[in-house]
Amino acid sequence: MKYPKEYLDEIKTRLKVSNVVSKVVALKKRGKEFVGLSPFKNEKTPSFTVNDEKEFYHCFATSEHGNIFDFVMKTQNLRFGEAVKYLANIAGMQPYLFTKQDEERERNWKEYLSIYSKYVDYYHGQLLKNEKLSNARDYLKNRSLGKNEVKKFKIGFVEKNPSFFDELKKEFGEKTLLESGLFYFDEKKKKCTERFKGRLIFPINNISGQPIALGGRIIENLDYLAKYINSPETNFFKKGSNLYNLDLARKLSNKLDHIFLVEGYMDVVGLSKNGVENVVANLGTSLTDKQILTLNQFFDDIIICFDGDESGYKAALRAAENSIKELKPEKQISFLFLPNNEDPDSYVNKNGKANFIDFTKQSKLSIHQFIFSHYKKQTENNPSSLAIFEKKLRSIAYSIKDDFIKKYVLEYFLEKIAELTPHSNQNKKKFFAKKIKSLDTTKKYFNDSQSLTGVELKEFSLLYLVMNNLNLLQENIHLIENIKLFTEVNKKIFELIIKKLKSGKQISIEDLELDNQLLEKINKFAPIKHILKNQANDNQKTIELLEDISRDLINYDLDFRIQELESKFSVDMSETTFNELKELKKKQNLN
Ligand code: UTP
Ligand code: MN
Repeated sequence: MKYPKEYLDEIKTRLKVSNVVSKVVALKKRGKEFVGLSPFKNEKTPSFTVNDEKEFYHCFATSEHGNIFDFVMKTQNLRFGEAVKYLANIAGMQPYLFTKQDEERERNWKEYLSIYSKYVDYYHGQLLKNEKLSNARDYLKNRSLGKNEVKKFKIGFVEKNPSFFDELKKEFGEKTLLESGLFYFDEKKKKCTERFKGRLIFPINNISGQPIALGGRIIENLDYLAKYINSPETNFFKKGSNLYNLDLARKLSNKLDHIFLVEGYMDVVGLSKNGVENVVANLGTSLTDKQILTLNQFFDDIIICFDGDESGYKAALRAAENSIKELKPEKQISFLFLPNNEDPDSYVNKNGKANFIDFTKQSKLSIHQFIFSHYKKQTENNPSSLAIFEKKLRSIAYSIKDDFIKKYVLEYFLEKIAELTPHSNQNKKKFFAKKIKSLDTTKKYFNDSQSLTGVELKEFSLLYLVMNNLNLLQENIHLIENIKLFTEVNKKIFELIIKKLKSGKQISIEDLELDNQLLEKINKFAPIKHILKNQANDNQKTIELLEDISRDLINYDLDFRIQELESKFSVDMSETTFNELKELKKKQNLN
């Protein structure tokens, strides 16, 4: 049994060699190729290379060489048929089962392709050459499109009274022709009629570049006709599974990591004419998961740029909420909003490529930024509206399938929400931000610029309590031995005190041999002394106070480490950092 060549070709077009190989071998990009350690040999310097453009891998150490099928067979010890099944699955294709139905489908598929290719070629030729069709050529000229674009996209024009059906009928059955969607049966006239008559036609190709459907635009303003129509869905064309221009754009994925996703055929053609060729359009329907997955097989970064009108904005929001669920690490989806009533085609024709690229760099919003800012705009500053806002964002974050992305997006949302409720976070921030100025009378003593932070004051309280309760604490050393201090000087003294207490000898303040200046400072500024002044000095109270201070200091420490990790995370985005952060936050909440 032999797999049809088209089936194997489609697997190859859908899967880059580097995608398949990188599941087994860590690859690094080097120029046009990737390099890595050979999976066929134990080695320390990489001699294994992958070339996506040429669709092969080569190992210089062992001379192993081949395509994705060879690679999977050799590294996973599979037979050819098993490798095909494995790769078809990764490529998101149905398995080929060699049943009677499969064979019949294969025959129909070949006929279908042949009908479309003949149809597209014929009307493309007509648009280029037929003298009677100058109105269509004028229309294109008015939209500043010329021969180059017509040829590149194989645009055609179907005459008002076309006759190609009769030509095709010589070769194909009527039923097959009707099933292609190019024709429909007109009940009134009782005859097969061309669906696209009087329209410019844009061939929609499959990933291998074969036309499988059409989009058609009227060239006269006739209210009773839809501006665009598409081929209906057929056995071989499903709208949500295809993207216009993917066959050409995917070839750029060896050089570029981003792709523009636009609404219309004309947007693709217009951008391409202006030199932005990494662009595809979805076909007048909402964006599907499948389309996102397909694009992600080739590009890491999808930039969605719909029309700058209300319906474009709504479509973008729908696309964002739907595709954030599928977001994967290392992949990005962002959104570009054009000025009022421009679409990508009109924008790039007015402003040119360089401006468009600049505009993209400056204005694109990543998917979570867009979603946040959209719902933020809908929110009023009252508890009920804010509560709905937070709930909505949380539910969007929870809908994300990838756990890591879910955590990160949730963090982003919650952090932005926290900025809206500054009072609930005020205390935490104060610790580090705010310096407490010493009182006027003490200024002389500590020189004029001296000031103490909240942490220092807490530490003074701790030292004050400890120094005045040495005996009690010698018996209860566990209460203080694990407390961490921040200020270098205080930390040293504290460690010294602990050491002396642990020695078991009875000690008094004098035994500590503290620097007098510091001692005075502590006695003067430890805030705790005001509390102690107003209450009887009993051991139970002292222990409670110690516990309070110790808890506060642990929180300072957590706060500090959380701040550190947050800035680390914003740079490395690593899962480990994230988990550490999560742990610390849990502890912080418990305190
Ligand atoms: P637009 O109305 O934005 O068209 O529809 P456009 O691409 O800007 O085209 P021009 O510049 O007016 O020629 C965007 C896409 O929506 C689908 C088509 O796929 C179109 O390219 N559409 C639009 C339809 O399917 N039917 C319609 O009647 C209109
Ligand atoms: Mn448009």
